[in-house]
Amino acid sequence: MGFLIFFLTLGIIIFIFSSKTFSPIPYFPSQKVDLPLIVKALNLKNDQVVIDLGAGDGIVIFEAARMASQKKLNTKFIAVEINPVLILVLHLRRLFHPNRKNIKIILDDMFKMNFNRLTRKPVNSLIFYLYISPWYMDKTISNIKRQTNKFKVVSYMYPLSIKTTKSSFSKATAIRGKNQIFVYLHAITTSRYTTSEVVRGAQKQSTGK
Ligand SMILES: C[S@@+](CC[C@H](N)C(=O)[O-])C[C@H]1O[C@@H](n2cnc3c(N)ncnc32)[C@H](O)[C@@H]1O
Repeated sequence: MGFLIFFLTLGIIIFIFSSKTFSPIPYFPSQKVDLPLIVKALNLKNDQVVIDLGAGDGIVIFEAARMASQKKLNTKFIAVEINPVLILVLHLRRLFHPNRKNIKIILDDMFKMNFNRLTRKPVNSLIFYLYISPWYMDKTISNIKRQTNKFKVVSYMYPLSIKTTKSSFSKATAIRGKNQIFVYLHAITTSRYTTSEVVRGAQKQSTGK
């Protein structure tokens, strides 16, 4: 009976990790040796929200939260994961974390999720940590851009595509670790006026009409 339960559980775990529904991007943790550089790239400060999209076993989010508590920062951390087995691991690890009050675990799909429900703060000035396959990057960034216009992206190993960065993103800062870490800022100040309206307004002012 014990063997049956063991093999059934193993079968379910293998199924979840190989399924396109439960794990569209395979689980690979960020390299442990790069953790100090990743945390440095996040540049933790008070009143920030750091979201790991596809948090895996939480190697990055838990280390960043540990550093924040050492520095007595109130930074909030959100681990988003679609794989239910990894969600269970994240909840177990959170239980024993010294900074657990500032860590949230969310079961959701990074391609479709609504970021407004994650934080009471306006979803501006968020930091997204990504370690995802390059062919899913555009889809993920598009979902973020639909909901907020001021955010930072720290991407492990893979740079954002030229198509994504050509408007509104700063040039990447690349940090060299075992793998590269790319840091981008996205900021658009939306104007209520078109360029020609602004030019016309300025002309009116100068002619006094
Ligand atoms: C390459 S791993 C990165 C894990 C972790 N961020 C790290 O750096 O160690 C990608 C993770 O994304 C998760 N994932 C894949 N598709 C997802 C989706 N649509 N929404 C949320 N998480 C997803 C996978 O289950 C996996 O844990």
